Amino acid sequence: MTTTSTPFAPVKWQDDALVLLDQTRLPVETIYLTLTTSEEVWAAIRHLQVRGAPAIGMAAAYGLYLGVRSSDANDFEAFWHHLSEQADYLGTSRPTAVNLFWALDRIKARVQREAGKPVAELKAAVLDEALSIQREDAEVCRRIGEHLLTLLKDGMGILTHCNPGALATAAYGTATAPLYLAKERGWNLKVYADETRPVLQGARLTAYELQQAGIDVTLICDNMAAMVMAQGKVQAVIVGTDRVAANGDVANKIGTYGVAVLAHAHGIPFYVAAPLSSVDLDTPTGADIPIEERPAEEITHGLGKQVAPDGIKVYNPAFDVTPARYITAIVTENGIYKPDEIRNCKR
Ligand code: MRU
Repeated sequence: MTTTSTPFAPVKWQDDALVLLDQTRLPVETIYLTLTTSEEVWAAIRHLQVRGAPAIGMAAAYGLYLGVRSSDANDFEAFWHHLSEQADYLGTSRPTAVNLFWALDRIKARVQREAGKPVAELKAAVLDEALSIQREDAEVCRRIGEHLLTLLKDGMGILTHCNPGALATAAYGTATAPLYLAKERGWNLKVYADETRPVLQGARLTAYELQQAGIDVTLICDNMAAMVMAQGKVQAVIVGTDRVAANGDVANKIGTYGVAVLAHAHGIPFYVAAPLSSVDLDTPTGADIPIEERPAEEITHGLGKQVAPDGIKVYNPAFDVTPARYITAIVTENGIYKPDEIRNCKR
């Protein structure tokens, strides 16, 4: 396993508990939450204390263990029933990032493979699989970064949206992985981070983690991206994803679609960093991806105080879908694909 050079540990299994870096408090406060029940994990996912597709999957995996570790089931059937109930429950925490369901299904598949063993061993297998998911994620992100780096050159300007960073993964991030690797190689990339309304993951998280890592990052408001592109400051856009559909459409944080259209208009390549855990070949097109709608208060009170009139109607989709035609390439740990090739990607 490769060692990591990114400074954050957003998800940790420590002293028989799940320890999460509370991302709603960054960048002002660094507070860790210690969670010991699946209900607490469900709430932490729902309320964005842990967020970003791979981190949600990792947290849910540990949440599943917390949900079954005290199970009084004494045979496989009873344990399977309890495990399935807990997995279904954790699956209701957020709908869009497929990594959540991928992680829960992966654990269920492991337990199926171990059917016949004593319940204590099945419980141990659940934890072991959760730990493997986290361990592998760091390596997956590094490989995505290495592939992406082949598409970049020293001195480029890179624009990103939301937080596809180390704070959203086990290490490196997905879209940020090439930025960390470029830094290790002594390159000078200039990164533009969209602030990412309404929850400001770009300002609070991406700008913060890249700054902490000594990467040249400049924060811009979302509505400045067109200007920055027109000024020739951006040579590539790299974003993460919450789900890639079989036809190459990509769901990511709201605003990504607009950035893709802008990149297309300016002739700038638009890359999606996608671990295979985010590639969902069972979802035929972007129109089939469930898009989460979040509370109105994220917009009306988004900056810590009321910024909109009482009673105003609000529409707050948390994600949008970028059509495959605006995507130059989808970069996975197993290689670089054109969107229409993703259904045949190596898994
Ligand atoms: O609502 P969030 O903060 O969970 O949304 C996160 C994103 O949209 C990220 O860009 C995506 O999960 C990629 S994470 C590597």
